[in-house]
Amino acid sequence: MSNTSEIQEAAALLQAGELVAFPTETVYGLGADAANPLAVQKIFTAKGRPSDHPLIVHLSDAEGLARWAMEIPPVAYRLAEKFWPGPLTLILKKQAWVPTAVTGGQDTVGLRMPAHPLALQLIRAFAALPERRGGVAAPSANRFGRVSPTTATHVQEELGGRVARILDGGACQVGIESTILDLSRLATHGAEILRPGGLDPLSLAEVLGEMPRLRDGANQDNAPRVSGSLLSHYAPTTPLQLVDGAALAGFLRQQSRAGRRCGVLAHSPQTLQTAEATARIAMPADPSGYAHRLYAALRELDAQNLDLMVVETPPATLIWNAVCDRLRRATAPK
Ligand code: TXA
Ligand code: MG
Repeated sequence: MSNTSEIQEAAALLQAGELVAFPTETVYGLGADAANPLAVQKIFTAKGRPSDHPLIVHLSDAEGLARWAMEIPPVAYRLAEKFWPGPLTLILKKQAWVPTAVTGGQDTVGLRMPAHPLALQLIRAFAALPERRGGVAAPSANRFGRVSPTTATHVQEELGGRVARILDGGACQVGIESTILDLSRLATHGAEILRPGGLDPLSLAEVLGEMPRLRDGANQDNAPRVSGSLLSHYAPTTPLQLVDGAALAGFLRQQSRAGRRCGVLAHSPQTLQTAEATARIAMPADPSGYAHRLYAALRELDAQNLDLMVVETPPATLIWNAVCDRLRRATAPK
């Protein structure tokens, strides 16, 4: 854990236009002063990410909403009150001054208040510095298209040498990215989930009064760009295949006969026991536990020079939605 002077130093680096990686409850973020276009540009360079992809601005309180967004519908405040700090990003109309470098040229901005104490301390310390607007732009701290980091070591592997400071806050509790909810087209489209994530849709429905629609990733003509919606996102370098539990043992036997080295990720203990594989990882059988472990498990297998990673298909129920989304993207051909 970091101490106060480490936080102060990191905040001063942000103020000076440098990059600071920090833990959030979802995944590690690569932070820059969101009001400083030159600093924001460094994020895109460090990640190797196209600069028309918008970034999420991280705030230390819900009062920040009105500083960054306008035409804020009352439901945005109710959601913030209930779920912030936490894994929910709200897309709202941006204030005119918000740099287009942050929003990928769009007229909306993504806002979220993260729950990790270190993230909150950093944003608060930064916001207290003179003439700062208090927003930290931060995508996941991985190189573009790769698995998001859930430990400081992962960040070091991804971006070491490209960031001024990495704050170590241990393993991220949630383990997959925030749920992104678009409220900028409320009147015409209702509240739409752009990316399923750490906050489940049933919890959102309690505040919204109805289930939010999941925006169809294939049909995004004029809709805001979400890099997390590119099909090959979150991909490890070893090919990955989803196989149903019942078919897994047979599939692996075939692979092994063909001389292929497989790593397996299974959430049912019986499936794992009968799996013939070079590497085996037992995954938690509940969606939160699974999400918490997922990215680190993919990295562990990815590091073993395997021919194939085989993942037992998780249940196709709503609460597994976010995990299934990330696995589908990890299997997509690049
Ligand atoms: O949990 C998270 O959300 C993590 C932590 C660090 O907060 N951040 C994260 O950032 O996942 P990133 O950049 O890897 O993914 C953010 C997603 C991108 O797919 C981006 O396109 C979308 O949010 N996004 C940001 N602003 C947007 C906007 N104005 N309209 C539509 N999508 C937006
Ligand atoms: Mg990302």
